[in-house]
Amino acid sequence: MADAPTRPRTGSHDLSVSTALARSMARDWAPSPLPLDARVTARAVTPARRARLSARFPGERLVIPAGELRVRSNDCDHRFRPYSAYAWLTGLTGEDQPGHVLVMEPSGTHDHEAVLYLRPRSPRTDDTGPHAGAFYRDRRYGELWVGRRPDLDEAERLTGIRCADLAELGGTLPPGREPSADPRLAAALAELRLVKDAWEVEQLQLAVDHTTAGFEDVVRALPRALAHPRGERWIEGVFGLRARAEGNGTGYETIAAAGAHACVLHWTRNDGALDPSQLLLLDAGVETDTLYTADITRTLPLSGRFSPAQRRVYELVLAAQEAGIAALRPGARFRDFHLAAMRVIAEGLAEWGVLKDAEGDLHRRYTLCSSGHMLGLDVHDCAQARAETYLDGVLEEGQVLTVEPGLYLQPDDLTLPPELRGMGVRIEDDLVVTADGARLMSSALPRTPDAVEEWMGALLDDA
Ligand code: GLY
Ligand code: MN
Ligand code: MN
Repeated sequence: MADAPTRPRTGSHDLSVSTALARSMARDWAPSPLPLDARVTARAVTPARRARLSARFPGERLVIPAGELRVRSNDCDHRFRPYSAYAWLTGLTGEDQPGHVLVMEPSGTHDHEAVLYLRPRSPRTDDTGPHAGAFYRDRRYGELWVGRRPDLDEAERLTGIRCADLAELGGTLPPGREPSADPRLAAALAELRLVKDAWEVEQLQLAVDHTTAGFEDVVRALPRALAHPRGERWIEGVFGLRARAEGNGTGYETIAAAGAHACVLHWTRNDGALDPSQLLLLDAGVETDTLYTADITRTLPLSGRFSPAQRRVYELVLAAQEAGIAALRPGARFRDFHLAAMRVIAEGLAEWGVLKDAEGDLHRRYTLCSSGHMLGLDVHDCAQARAETYLDGVLEEGQVLTVEPGLYLQPDDLTLPPELRGMGVRIEDDLVVTADGARLMSSALPRTPDAVEEWMGALLDDA
């Protein structure tokens, strides 16, 4: 729990406050109303979500904290992002939520009343009470340090949920089910989020559209990136600018991997140079202000043209992705699209003579991981769902997922012909399951080698 109510925290650049200054600071402030456009975008959809949760836990108190600030060093914290299920249930997605708690209080046998415990604004007139001067002295929560937050009545209007002072909890969570200590509640919160409602699909499409713009920015920036000794970082920065300008930021650490770095699945060091003879694997996603993220990968020839060997590897991965996408439909097993993609990869590797045949699991030496996952508020969304509802379950209309097969041909792999070593290719798209198949949400980004070359050419001409 947060340390509320608190004495003002002091840190390295706080100064002591004289009595005269304290008196002055407590006076002569005009009202500062919430901005007129302040609103909770998801307000209309959160009551149905809470009702679905309520129905799973009749008569039980549910305690869903937003999470706490994490210290980066000394008196500096990491940027705060609320726990996804808290955001999903309340619609509150901002940096001003640390320490806040949603309590679903049983009321009657089949219902709950939601109460949000929030840190109210600190008064500007009280120069003696427990919050004295917090608005200008408390570097973590004071509004002159971190910005204005809604007061309880304002938060109630914004969220449609009854709000109470966090101090009423006395610095501890009330007894009840709490997701970090209760796998059944954590699983329920994940499973309730497996199927996206129409509003969520819109948010995910927005994330995909901003991500598309970010990929275009990166291609336009390639000449500068190629000239920089740490071109991978330049690319990460260009994408990050788009992500931060359009949304909350990136939904996960960007992977900008040139050449053999692409054979490291989560290459986020991004400290390498770029060479025009290499492929660049860019795996990146913009997270919206509502906290929904895209997750897209394109593998691009840094010269603008695939070499014959690059094209050969790319085309096999694309064929695998097509097979995976074709396997998506309601009722199909979640694992089917991965198996379909892997069949194509194994057959391709056998055709190249890398594998003796397409049977068994030796193809996994070159693919390493599974070919996709649910996508939503978290990049690997709903990961705490029980296996029978997700990994061993069947697809349902409204689920959003990635299909992302890859080939990772390690530079030191003696089983490979030398011309293929050191190449990593992944193609990753975001799809929503429809009544009879799936809709590609990321179709604005090209996937075939010819279309990739044409798209890069047009953007580089523009640059
Ligand atoms: N970037 C993580 C993933 O593709 O799943
Ligand atoms: Mn992914
Ligand atoms: Mn990805």
